[in-house]
Amino acid sequence: MSDSTGNLVDSFGRVHRDLRISVTDRCNYRCSYCMPAEGMDWMPREAILTFEEIERIAALMVNRFGITSIRLTGGEPLVRAHLPLLISKLAALGVDLTMTTNGSRLAEAAVDLRAAGLNRLNISIDSLDRQRFAQITGRDDLESVLAGIKAAQAAGFDPVKINVVAMAGVNHDEIVDFAEFGRAQGLLIRFIEFMPLDATHEWLPTSVLSQEAILAAVGGAHPLEPIPRDSSPAQSFRYVDGGGEIGVIPSVTAPFCDNCDRVRITAEGSLRNCLFSTAETDLRELLTNGATDNDLESAIRSEVAAKAVGHGIGKPTFVRPRKSMSQLGG
Ligand code: 5AD
Ligand code: SF4
Repeated sequence: MSDSTGNLVDSFGRVHRDLRISVTDRCNYRCSYCMPAEGMDWMPREAILTFEEIERIAALMVNRFGITSIRLTGGEPLVRAHLPLLISKLAALGVDLTMTTNGSRLAEAAVDLRAAGLNRLNISIDSLDRQRFAQITGRDDLESVLAGIKAAQAAGFDPVKINVVAMAGVNHDEIVDFAEFGRAQGLLIRFIEFMPLDATHEWLPTSVLSQEAILAAVGGAHPLEPIPRDSSPAQSFRYVDGGGEIGVIPSVTAPFCDNCDRVRITAEGSLRNCLFSTAETDLRELLTNGATDNDLESAIRSEVAAKAVGHGIGKPTFVRPRKSMSQLGG
């Protein structure tokens, strides 16, 4: 579906400006809420989009549809070789270019990423306790991530955003620790409600630590006030004492589907209109078969037009996606 400006619009009138590209399904961690501990079947390398294919799709989406931001995701994007090369090509498109990483390899990579033109960084970390970090990720690697966070700040990323998946019974007792870590280190902490995307299907409604509980914990220690909502899915709050900000992404208790402006491309080149959609459009096959830009444009428009009104988590009709976050491109 299109409007007179060429924008990428769905049947509910939502205009899509944000493109997320998974550059690999692989990861050096095995976060319990994302991947099984063993037996991951990685896609064969030849099934993954090449940098040239990614550039072609991204350029088309920027030039024809007015996409204004691109986020690189995985898996773990930094396990893909030569990533700064891709970043420099995408930066040349003039978009806001960001990346979500587990931070494990940032200590070595941060300066190169910045130099290549990456604008912003989100780093995921779900525990500040070494043992618990190892339990959650399957790797005893907390120190590398902490070093990665420091390296990102030193390389000039500002603000550095920290994603914390808040899980009842897992890290509920660290919410205030994270808030204090953010205040002390000048980091923007964003708590994300746990979504049913874990490969092991352990998610239960009771595993969600709600926005309400998160705010009660942080605000109890350091009073907060809301910041009027911008277009981002994160609700923002500032410390009344001037100690900075936090964000909460209430993906389950207050979904942002009504304002969703995101589309995603999986590592193997399928376009998805939602993390939770059960269908996707295989762009890689089209590319392999010699598709023209017009062919790609109409395939992309059809996929976006078919976007559902919302994810429906908690409704009786909700169907879990077969894929986990690492396969979908968080
Ligand atoms: N629920 C919420 N967030 C998740 N992430 C991965 N899996 C889930 C899930 N099941 C987060 C990662 C990362 C971001 C891309 O998504 O921690 O910060
Ligand atoms: Fe890797 Fe991120 Fe999945 Fe953890 S959440 S296993 S770091 S892709």
